[in-house]
Amino acid sequence: MREFDEATITQTVIGRLSECDDPRFKRVMTSLITHLHDFVRDVRLTEDEWLTAIQFLTDVGQTCTEKRQEYILLSDTLGISVLVITINHPAVQGSAESTVLGPFYWEGAPERPRGSNLAEGVKGEPAFYSGRVLSADGRPLENALLDIWSGDGEGNYDMQIPGETGMKARGRIRTDAQGRYWFRSIKPTYYPVPTDGPVGRMLRKMGRHPYRPGHIHMIVSAPGHRPVTTHLFVAGSEYLDSDAVFGMKESLVTRFDRHPAGGAPDGSTVDIPFYTVQYDFRLRPA
Ligand code: BEZ
Ligand code: FE
Repeated sequence: MREFDEATITQTVIGRLSECDDPRFKRVMTSLITHLHDFVRDVRLTEDEWLTAIQFLTDVGQTCTEKRQEYILLSDTLGISVLVITINHPAVQGSAESTVLGPFYWEGAPERPRGSNLAEGVKGEPAFYSGRVLSADGRPLENALLDIWSGDGEGNYDMQIPGETGMKARGRIRTDAQGRYWFRSIKPTYYPVPTDGPVGRMLRKMGRHPYRPGHIHMIVSAPGHRPVTTHLFVAGSEYLDSDAVFGMKESLVTRFDRHPAGGAPDGSTVDIPFYTVQYDFRLRPA
């Protein structure tokens, strides 16, 4: 056939994959073409809308820099990132759930002794985090690594603070022989995903807010176990019910217990109220 109509175009395009020798790629492209064509037919896409979409995707690409990944933000805000995570890391009763990595991970945070204050000079209320890393059957995992990062108490990551060039509120902590970890940081607050680019325009046009509930990020890993990219969410935080990137998981919502100024769990004295947080991570075998 040399000419196509609205109904025959889809099978014709798919037919051009007949020489493709990568079966997985062929399957993915066949499905993608099918869904995109169905979508165009479904909404009766106009030429103006098509051009607007092309311009939007061009803007998304042009907004990406070494420090900013607008395509990942687009994927996050459309729920695609969390869908991919959910398919590839289904929740398993009793083991720590995965959630989005987000754009603010910075590889190579320094390894710090247990008990370190990761948030020296960072705005925010002090919080003392502790818990254990365990195998799925409850054995303590010695030498497990927690790679930790968060924004400050005002919702800004170090990368977003003008003039800030160093790492802040980041660090890696290893567990002791009983699988225990502890460190000091701050209580994170809710914050907006970046809204000064095309994804921000999309959210506004959709009538959506850009906020994520308060959370601290961790990648928890141990030899012989599956690493987990996850968060601890602050119980009671605003936006737990409407995370802009759909990353909230009930199993990761954690109590932040408030204490008056005075003796802290690490033996120091804190002259303002502080929080304690306790969470055990169970890892599945590799
Ligand atoms: C974050 O939690 O850091 C984040 C995740 C997805 C998009 C934007 C920010
Ligand atoms: Fe975050």
